[in-house]
Amino acid sequence: MQYDGLWKEVSKKEGSASSPIHGLTHWRRVFENGLMIARETGANIDLVEFFALFHDSCRLNDGKDPDHGRRAADWVASMRSDLPDIPEDLFQFLLEALRDHTHVRYTDNIHIATCWDADRLDLDRVGTIPDPDYMNTEIGRIMARNGGFIMEALEKFVERLIGSIGCYSHKCETEMYSLKKNDKNMKGRMGVFAWVKELKRDDKFEISTYKTMGDEANVSQWSDKTVPGMHFVAKHKDKGEGTGIVFYVKRGGKGHDYEKAVRSLRAILLK
Ligand SMILES: [Fe+2]
Repeated sequence: MQYDGLWKEVSKKEGSASSPIHGLTHWRRVFENGLMIARETGANIDLVEFFALFHDSCRLNDGKDPDHGRRAADWVASMRSDLPDIPEDLFQFLLEALRDHTHVRYTDNIHIATCWDADRLDLDRVGTIPDPDYMNTEIGRIMARNGGFIMEALEKFVERLIGSIGCYSHKCETEMYSLKKNDKNMKGRMGVFAWVKELKRDDKFEISTYKTMGDEANVSQWSDKTVPGMHFVAKHKDKGEGTGIVFYVKRGGKGHDYEKAVRSLRAILLK
């Protein structure tokens, strides 16, 4: 972040910064979203950073507080001389973005549009799926459809997945990762318990594991599909021990499909 000092100052603000819903962690995610959107829209990054930092900083509570946008705009306007890097026209857009983010839905201004979409894309923190129809930018609409991501690649998905499960991964082939219990490749103790690959055409990821493992952890019933002869086991030789179970997670998925896969794989890991 360009304005670390300012973030530290505003973060000390009583009430608003510590809110788990509208506080600092939300401001940071709005900035991250804003950066992704700005790469496409060309919005000014300083403006996006100031919006992320200030837009909810004058909230008095986490409920209905329709004036918090106007208060933030007034506060920032009073600090004009502390924000010298931002040209006057952009400063006026920033004030408009702050003032109106509470009640105006659409705008043609790319700077303001970027800020509002960045904020609205973080709605899933309160259990509301971001609605593409409430977005102002094309990239915002794409991100809303992809669970907040522009396009989640296999590598990124695996990173997210192992973080949620609490395991390690290994890139086995160009198009596949294995999930494993152990960090190091100890002889015979890789502890591989699942494989992940991308189904590009269907815009989803496939996580497969052996049914014997799923049965042992009592999670096979949660899988989306059962397949005979997984990976290296020839189907005609498969007497049941090579049977696999499969979980599907849509690209960027954070909902039920993702949770179900994570919960099942964690149970397998802990067996
Ligand atoms: Fe917000």
